[in-house]
Amino acid sequence: MLSAIAGSPDLAPSPEKPLILLAPMEGLLDATLRDVLTRAGGIDRCVSEFIRITDTLLPERAFVRVVPELLNGSLTRAGVPVRPQLLGSDPVCLAENAARLAGLAPEGIDLNFGCPARTVNQSRGGAVLLDEPELVGRIVSAVRRAVPAHVPVSAKMRLGYQDDLRAEECALAIAEAGASELVVHARTKAHGYRPPAYWERIADLRERLYGRIAPRLVANGEIWTVEDARRCQAVSGCPDLMIGRGMVTHPGLALAIRSQGDVVWAQIVPWLRDFWDQVSARVERRHRAGRLKQWLGSLRRHYPQAGQAFDTLRLVHDPEVIGAWLDAQCLGVVPAGAADEVEPVIC
Ligand SMILES: Cc1cc2nc3c(=O)[nH]c(=O)nc-3n(C[C@H](O)[C@H](O)[C@H](O)COP(=O)(O)O)c2cc1C
Repeated sequence: MLSAIAGSPDLAPSPEKPLILLAPMEGLLDATLRDVLTRAGGIDRCVSEFIRITDTLLPERAFVRVVPELLNGSLTRAGVPVRPQLLGSDPVCLAENAARLAGLAPEGIDLNFGCPARTVNQSRGGAVLLDEPELVGRIVSAVRRAVPAHVPVSAKMRLGYQDDLRAEECALAIAEAGASELVVHARTKAHGYRPPAYWERIADLRERLYGRIAPRLVANGEIWTVEDARRCQAVSGCPDLMIGRGMVTHPGLALAIRSQGDVVWAQIVPWLRDFWDQVSARVERRHRAGRLKQWLGSLRRHYPQAGQAFDTLRLVHDPEVIGAWLDAQCLGVVPAGAADEVEPVIC
């Protein structure tokens, strides 16, 4: 659905309630973690980690492997929509694959113009495409034409590759090609993931798109706290946010931004157990411990208890030992200072 922005950009009302989207994070935020994080609440929609499109038409199972939610109406178990993301540079090939993906009834299709990985950029995918706004436009337009009108096509971009001089051109190309939504990670590829994020540049893009049939703009980058979210909204002029690492670190962040509560450690513990069960079902035995520690490593930034858990399990690799330890936590946890708020957790 395209939304027309009328009036001054400062006065333009948000067409709908502000969105909070869960960011795609290849290698970190997969279907298992999406399942758990969307149970916390506050997330309107997820974008999947990218599915790389080169010169072949992928079989349906390749889409389902990355986005198993496609077998569940494109929803997580908590009922939150998941939009698969495609990454590539050939408009024809992307369009053909998007058409096949559309046959699986995804909630929408997102296009990646932000991946900074050298291997991806070397094969002319991800952020490097931001040097070629005309090609970016052709990709969005080819995908838009290839899928039924009821399937939203959106895009996610950085501000540029080495610099941000062509950010406006890229945003305009994406808008004119008919994308319904544009997420802007407010950094160039050269900035990598180093703070800060340049939210004020999103305000520039918003102004540039003003008066057109515009995609809904979503601000992304460096939102770790409620205060960050408020500042990002104020500086970028975008009520709509996408959050990645902040949600992995603090699964209650989206709820807190909406002033609808928070998530205490005692709630996380059974989710860790459930996460572990799903990892055990999907991931090779030798990689399982690493997946759990990866999430614990992020959680410890917000929850001191996660730091203790991480230290306890740091040298443990045996899945049975980890499973037993998680069971004990589920049976025994009474969070310090939160005993009045939360019943002891029994998985
Ligand atoms: C490990 C990792 C993997 C990522 N994978 C993707 C991806 O597959 N597609 C994409 O568009 N962005 C990807 N990103 C970028 C994030 O979606 C997001 O734009 C970035 O982390 C900034 O948001 P944040 O500060 O809220 O994390 C990835 C980021 C990280 C850290």
